[in-house]
Amino acid sequence: MRWLSENWRGRRGLLHQRLATELQDAIAKGQISLGSELPTVRALTIAASVSKVTAAQALDQLIESGWAQRRDRAPALARTPGAARQQLAPVNMNDAKRGTRDFQAARVAAPVEEYLEALSRAQERLAPELLGAGRISGGHPELRRMIAKRFTDSGLPTTADEVIVTNGAMGAFASIIDAHPGPVLVEDPTYHVALGILAAKRRRTIGWARTPTWDATNLSTLAQRTKPSVAYLVPDFHNPSGALASSDERIGVGAVLHPLPTLKAVIIDETFFDLDLREPGENQAAPIQHFAALHPNARNIITISGLSKIAWAGLRIGWARVPDPQQRAQVGALADITPPPILDQLIAIELWPELDRIIRDRLVRLRVQRASLLDHFEMHALSATIPAGGLSAWVDLGAPVAVQLRDRLERKGWFISTGATYSSAQPYEQFIRLPFTHESETIAQLFSALGPDLAQLRFAANRR
Ligand SMILES: Cc1ncc(COP(=O)(O)O)c(C=O)c1O
Repeated sequence: MRWLSENWRGRRGLLHQRLATELQDAIAKGQISLGSELPTVRALTIAASVSKVTAAQALDQLIESGWAQRRDRAPALARTPGAARQQLAPVNMNDAKRGTRDFQAARVAAPVEEYLEALSRAQERLAPELLGAGRISGGHPELRRMIAKRFTDSGLPTTADEVIVTNGAMGAFASIIDAHPGPVLVEDPTYHVALGILAAKRRRTIGWARTPTWDATNLSTLAQRTKPSVAYLVPDFHNPSGALASSDERIGVGAVLHPLPTLKAVIIDETFFDLDLREPGENQAAPIQHFAALHPNARNIITISGLSKIAWAGLRIGWARVPDPQQRAQVGALADITPPPILDQLIAIELWPELDRIIRDRLVRLRVQRASLLDHFEMHALSATIPAGGLSAWVDLGAPVAVQLRDRLERKGWFISTGATYSSAQPYEQFIRLPFTHESETIAQLFSALGPDLAQLRFAANRR
């Protein structure tokens, strides 16, 4: 049992608790794959040199805490807590052929049980709302208060007045863009839906080819030359690169951007803020500081986010924190054209108290699945920086073969997205983006399909 460390007895607690924790850690780190058989009492007794009673108690504890699933007359299976309640990997419901083999979007299925309970409570609250017009300017006051409190509790003092409820984070983005004509500065690469919105609106896009860090030196020259009216940044587990900006980098970038006279809005997309996969104590795992909190006097920083990645994208709940009252009125009027339905807002209100628990459950599973993905990277000599959070990894194939690889995989019934999708300047032909929202087994199947093609394509490209 490779995962059994030599010093597991040095942990705290009773002997069976120490052994259970050792097993739990091995599952969480992906050393024991999800769904695989755990050792039997007999095997564990021998491997860990403990009594049968201790081994049985350790396995019982694992089952009770949700890390293992008991079976009749067969070894228990490794799982993560909440796995039975929560299906994290989304199934493509529009296209049965894609099913769970769709690695293009980094999306999550809804927390079904909590969602349905929230829905039934929301339905009970709907009757009085039906007597109203069904449209509440700026969003339901209770939801605005909850959003403001969440910002405040995480270090960004916010009042309910400053918050606008929007149709997803991208609803907020589109309204802010519409409120401010002129060129838009984006990171290159960046979130493709934001790029799609800008393209549809025929907005001039300026790609900031930032380094993996948010080094502001070239940003300053670029911004002064191109005079953007809006900037769009994703500093928390950036999509697609997964990078996390440090507080110093946030301070540096903000110091360059917010004094620019042409820049009316700096949109900070915090959609991944809560998907922090760093373990406590892991390299600089200090809590993330909101970009806006580091620039308390900058009135043009608008923070957007939503429930899509932590709960469900089908619940179209997003928000914008707009400190400037005039700008808020302008953005709010545009956001009110396509607000999230009142029932969705009530569901969000009812789901809100469960959010932190839902997120905690999801983080456990995401860590496991991220570990599976990284194991495959090693096996296939792929280089990717381990994303410290978010839902996907940005993978360097080592040769500009992303499009060919995608096409070959598509013929086998697997779907991935290539670097070009996220590009506003450079082509990123060497890159693909792989989400780790899928179960470890599905990830393994993808790599079985991908491995031979990747090797062939790389070989051919390197001979050229
Ligand atoms: C950077 C970023 N922002 C926002 C979203 C989600 O947008 P919405 O809340 O409109 O569903 C995503 C989803 O992938 C994203 O990657």
